[in-house]
Amino acid sequence: MGEYVEIFEVGPRDGLQNEARLIPAAEKIALVDCLSRAGFRRIECASFVSPKWVPQMATSAEVMAGIRRVPGVRYAALTPNMKGFEAALAAGADEVAIFGSASEGFSRANINASIAESLERFAPVAEAALAAGLPVRGYVSCVVDCPYDGAVAPAQVARVARALHAMGCYEISLGDTIGRATPEAVTAMLEAVTGVVPAAQLAGHFHDTGGRALDNVAAALAMGLRVFDAAVGGLGGCPYAPGAAGNVATEAVAARLAALGYETGLDRTVLDEAAAMARKMRNG
Ligand code: HMG
Ligand code: MG
Repeated sequence: MGEYVEIFEVGPRDGLQNEARLIPAAEKIALVDCLSRAGFRRIECASFVSPKWVPQMATSAEVMAGIRRVPGVRYAALTPNMKGFEAALAAGADEVAIFGSASEGFSRANINASIAESLERFAPVAEAALAAGLPVRGYVSCVVDCPYDGAVAPAQVARVARALHAMGCYEISLGDTIGRATPEAVTAMLEAVTGVVPAAQLAGHFHDTGGRALDNVAAALAMGLRVFDAAVGGLGGCPYAPGAAGNVATEAVAARLAALGYETGLDRTVLDEAAAMARKMRNG
């Protein structure tokens, strides 16, 4: 059997958050329930952010209450501040995520804070989560390119990743938010980040605007990463990253990993079912 590589499913959150049609909670619940049969260990299915900023995620508590939880699967939620954390805790999230940016422009546009302010805001969230026994994941957006500031220096990504790691994040997911990264740029960025956070605690989060996401996964594998975020059906985008396309499709990453000899533990038939469901949700 090949070495295990985990796909962290983010479709119900990152995949759906940018959809213009307000999707009823029941449809989201059906998608999560289908994904729960596919063999994932972690599924991100909620985001406790301001409904004024991201209206699509306003149903998060309803979704968390309605899903059928499968033992062994952790259901994750984004929590930008204490208000979001308290809502996630009340909704029964199994783990939470704080999300920062390596670029000032995106930090301001996405969470209305400078990088320094955002880190100050995240510290009590991480502390409260750890005190409640919930694992905390950290995201760093714009690890190669920013829609507002342009190219992002690897040292800047390393600085933010190290800060999140120091707060107690068990894993840092590195986001090519606008999907323009090349494998060379990903390698250079990871050379800096793996100097401060071990590769075993890093995840790759690639959007696929430039069509290079699978090559970027391969570059990150070569740098020792063994966790990749992906969304079934290639859904996604970020409302505060103009032009960003969907996340790399889970089924495409699973197929590429299988071709490279890795084991994902995923049921490809169930994945295809979930991908068809996700595409239907996008088309209304
Ligand atoms: P703000 O306007 O500075 O916040 O937004 P505020 O504290 O001044 O509050 C303003 C209003 O929002 C108040 O309500 C608060 O109660 C409410 P009002 O008094 O006006 O009625 N509020 C909340 N409501 C519900 N839940 C909350 C919450 N917090 C405040 N948690 C804030 C700051 C962070 C809240 C806002 O900017 C926000 O919600 N941003 C989220 C943006 C977002 O979700 N982006 C997408 C996710 S990140 C992403 O996709 C990237 C990723 O995939 C990785 C990658 O690809 O790079 C992770
Ligand atoms: Mg994303």
